[in-house]
This record gives sequence, structure tokens and C-alpha cells, in this order.
Amino acid sequence: MEKIIERKREPEPVHTNRNIEEMTARLVKEREKVALLPRVLRAADTNWTVGIQAFRRMWVSMTPAERFSKAPVCTMALMEQILEPGMKGGRHRHVREAIFYIIEGEGYEIHDDKRYDWSAGDIMTVPSYCDHQHFNPSAKQQARMWFSIAPLVEYMGIHWIEQIEMRSNYSIPPDAEPIYGPDKKVAGYRTKDGQEFKLGFSETIQGRIRVRPEDIMHIEKPRDTYELYMKRLEEQLKWRLSVPHVVRNEEVPWEDTRMGRIKFFIGPHRDGGLKTYDAFVQELPPGGASGRHRHAAEEVHKILEGKGYEIHDGVRHDWDAEDVVCIPPYVVHQHFNRDPHHPARFVAFQSGWYNFIGHGGIDHLEDAKP
Ligand SMILES: [Fe+2]
Ligand SMILES: [Fe+2]
Repeated sequence: MEKIIERKREPEPVHTNRNIEEMTARLVKEREKVALLPRVLRAADTNWTVGIQAFRRMWVSMTPAERFSKAPVCTMALMEQILEPGMKGGRHRHVREAIFYIIEGEGYEIHDDKRYDWSAGDIMTVPSYCDHQHFNPSAKQQARMWFSIAPLVEYMGIHWIEQIEMRSNYSIPPDAEPIYGPDKKVAGYRTKDGQEFKLGFSETIQGRIRVRPEDIMHIEKPRDTYELYMKRLEEQLKWRLSVPHVVRNEEVPWEDTRMGRIKFFIGPHRDGGLKTYDAFVQELPPGGASGRHRHAAEEVHKILEGKGYEIHDGVRHDWDAEDVVCIPPYVVHQHFNRDPHHPARFVAFQSGWYNFIGHGGIDHLEDAKP
């Protein structure tokens, strides 16, 4: 008969951890830091620079390391760019979605070989991993765009960017050495410390990220749960290939809502080439105020005209034309026009990421005042 040996376990030392306590401390510290960041970013404090893409100014950085360094929002990097008359921007492709509001001028896009026209007052969107380039064909007028891209994609481990072509009139940094392509044109450059930057598509990455329409298996009736997942990929690809990339100003009606007079460009009622942004334009009547509400989604405004102020959780923050207003999650907010004679107008981008974890929607607290 087999002898059963009873083994006695030595008492093991039990290590303790303070994971929850440390996380709590970290979150408290972050809240305190965010509370000190300005709600209004001033146009005068933001410099224009020129890069491979366009003439730009960065309002809120897209780098994860700079999260909550300048503004109390983190799901939307914020930028503005100018295309001088006759100029084209750099051609490129990235996994991040991007949303643009055209402040002035008119021009067009080439997105995956398809042309989309835009002019001042329109919202233009770049779906994830869409090959895109902006063109300003005007001989006289510059085009200016306010835009946002979603830095969260980088945390998700799928971000990638490919620069295909440089903007018009771009010259490589003065101390860099050009790299030439087979056609003897500049195809990149090498910096003094040996860093190489090359233009072009990455076929390997494309193969992973992008499912080509010809690869679709056309599952009409999924036989099991696994095929439901296969169908989801097909549906999402079809969505990306079919959604409008420009929502024209004239297509969008003004609505007199409980929050005030608003044109809803992208939201629960209308797709606009992306999943992670909602966008609207709001007008505040002379001396008037918006409704008062709160929501989890971060919201940012670019002031298009007028002057006014915000009340955020009881604290006043003044703004003027061209400024940017940041509204962090759950802050009770209301917008006021401080000019008794002229309307004020702003374009708002709201992050759509919150919808995916059940934190979407609006908690309405007070109706707009005329
Ligand atoms: Fe882009
Ligand atoms: Fe809001």
C-alpha cells in the first residue's frame, strides 16, 4: 500500500502590499495638481512654430509624459494650424482620430485618394489610420484650423504614424543631413546624433492595423459567438470606409435647447468619421448665459468671437476671442456672455471615450437664460 507522507508546510512569510493606499494617494495628488491648472488658455501664451506638417501652435500636448502639465484635460491634444495660400500640408497617416474646425478659409482634403471639400464653419474629421493631406488652393486667403487628436491611443499600445510627404516649402533642420530616395528626391534626414527619419508607408504596420476590404469574409448570419467577433471587424471597417469626413456648416440646423442655442455637428444623432469626439458650436446671446450642467466627458472650447466667462464649480474664469476653455470631468459649468451688445460664439469638442465605459450623457441642472 502506498505510504502517504504528510508534508508539513513551513509557515511562509506573508508580504504585505499598500497598492490601494498608494493608488489613492497618487489620485489625490493628481486631483490637487489638476485643480491648479488653468481653465482658460490664452492665445497670447501659445507660440506658432513650423514643422513637417504645417505652421502650427500647440495648445495642449499630445505626449503622454506631458499629461496634465499645462491644461486640466488629457483625452484631447489641442492644436491650431495655418495653411498659407497655395500650400499643402504634409501627407501622413496615424492611428489617432483627428477632428478639425475650419476657422477661416476654404480648401480640401485627400483622404485615402478621395477628395473632401471644406470651408470656414465646417467640421472635418480624419478617421483612424486614414492617409490624409490638407490643401489650400486659394491664391490669397490663408486657411486656419483648430483641431484635436486623441493621445489615448498611445496608451493603448497601437499608435503609429507614417509621414509620406513633407509640407510645401519644408526644409529639413539646418544641421541635418538629407537622405535621398531612388528618385534622387529627399526621402528623409539624419540628425547630428544619428537619429534617422524616413518618409513612406509602413507596409508591415499596415498589414496589422488595416484589414483590406478584399479580405472581408462577408459573414451575413454568424453561426456562433466567434463569428460575431469576425463580423464586428467587418462592420467597423465598413463604417470607417463609409462615414462622412466633412460635416458642412449649412447642413447643421441651430437648435434652441435647454443648454442654449447650439449646432450639433457630431453626436449621438450623427456620425462624422470618428468614434471618440462629439462636436458642436454654441452661441451665447448678448449678456446671456447657457444652461448649467455637468458630465464625465472632458470638453474644450475655442472661442470664435466675443468675450465672456465660465462658472466652474462656483469659480469664475474669464475668456476672450481666440482663447481656449478646458472643462475637466464632472465640473458643474455654465457659460456667460459679458458683452451686453454682441453675441459670443465658440466651437466645442467633447471626448467620446467616456461613452465606452458607461460614463456618457449629461446631468442637466439649470436651463439657459435669454
Ligand atoms: Fe494628421
Ligand atoms: Fe458641457
